[in-house]
Amino acid sequence: MGGAVTSWDGKLRRALPAHVGPDWRSAAGWLKTARQKTSRRRFVSNYRLRVHLAHLRLRDFRNYARLDTGFAPGFHLLLGDNAQGKTNILEAVYLMATLRSFRGVGGAHMIRHGAKGYFVGGNVVGQGEREIKIYWSARERKLALDGQPVKKLADYFGALRTVVFCTEDLQLVKGTARSRRRFLDLLLAQTQPGYLALLQRYMHSVRARNALLKARVTDEAALESFSAELVKLGNGIIRARRELVPKFSPLARLAYRRISNDAEELRIEYQPSVKNDFAVELAAARARERSFRATLVGPHRDDLQLLLHEKSAAQFGSEGQKRTLAIALKMAQAEFLTGIHGSPPVLLIDDVMGELDVKRRSGLLPLLARSREASGQVFMTCTDENWPSELGKDLQRWTVKQGTIQRS
Ligand SMILES: Nc1ncnc2c1ncn2[C@@H]1O[C@H](COP(=O)(O)OP(=O)(O)OP(=O)(O)O)[C@@H](O)[C@H]1O
Ligand SMILES: [Mg+2]
Repeated sequence: MGGAVTSWDGKLRRALPAHVGPDWRSAAGWLKTARQKTSRRRFVSNYRLRVHLAHLRLRDFRNYARLDTGFAPGFHLLLGDNAQGKTNILEAVYLMATLRSFRGVGGAHMIRHGAKGYFVGGNVVGQGEREIKIYWSARERKLALDGQPVKKLADYFGALRTVVFCTEDLQLVKGTARSRRRFLDLLLAQTQPGYLALLQRYMHSVRARNALLKARVTDEAALESFSAELVKLGNGIIRARRELVPKFSPLARLAYRRISNDAEELRIEYQPSVKNDFAVELAAARARERSFRATLVGPHRDDLQLLLHEKSAAQFGSEGQKRTLAIALKMAQAEFLTGIHGSPPVLLIDDVMGELDVKRRSGLLPLLARSREASGQVFMTCTDENWPSELGKDLQRWTVKQGTIQRS
């Protein structure tokens, strides 16, 4: 398959999802298996109005040779010893929503050792029913929605929305600006039609421009034309981010206050690379660009300031404060998505509870309970059967053992 396909996971890791070219035509045989079995339909029809993952199918994904499991809405607790495959299930669900692994790895890592490719499929039930199928191997990548090959990723996103809570979230606070930009971009891609395409086109012009700046002799005319493109597209991105932050920030502030259970004040501030006029600032950076041989101004250099009591959380926050802040950002993401789409995203919670002290846990639990009450669906992994008792009895427990999952 051609370059457009390779770009699926390549560019995904660089910016957010990339354009999917016409190469995404699935083999006819593969598509023939598209429709679900009647029994599965009957199962899901009881839950028509709740957006949830009703069925998950895995083939040669991580340590799962084969998995076929139905899930009702509500709270699912995945219990098991270490290294049994709990996180792998969350990874598969997140993959269906975003076409990325939240572990930040490419497709090859997710193929079961010794196998050629992985398959991840699922049925999402909300107002209607959507069927997702993903196949990935070194040579072939296929993506289908409702039995049709996906040609434009923008059409695909939205079939399933998830928010993941995992240890890597700490990078949102401690890591580089890039992780915070990604967070903003994911949120915008999940809520604004057209944002993803805009971002892809913008990143394309950044790369094209960087290539020109790296050339031994600069093609001034081409550089001018990409600069104009960069400014036009970049201004759209800046506008979207500038409008998002004040809407999102109060949700994060509230989530932070609820989890930390006291008056620690969180403030989030958008820090755009462009202060005033993109075109003017880009032109002014031209001499520096020549020595650095890269595009130095623009939304690909934006950041998000996270302030606790007006001080940088990354620099001055305690470990507990940073963890709480990372969780608050994710909780706010979930709330924001719920507000926009009218139904909560599927929450995937991996190992984050153990990192919080008792006070913070008891602040977080009501937020999770709320998602459950709003007819949402939550998947939480846990090794210790003791603590989730705080969550109450209304749980669906699963035992995960050596790449198998069973109701317990
Ligand atoms: N590509 C792969 N092929 C086969 N097995 C894999 C692959 N990638 C990871 N594994 C296996 O999956 C298991 C880890 O799964 P996972 O991370 O889901 O564990 P877990 O149940 O979440 O454990 P923990 O409680 O330690 O977080 C390990 O046994 C690992 O060897
Ligand atoms: Mg795990």
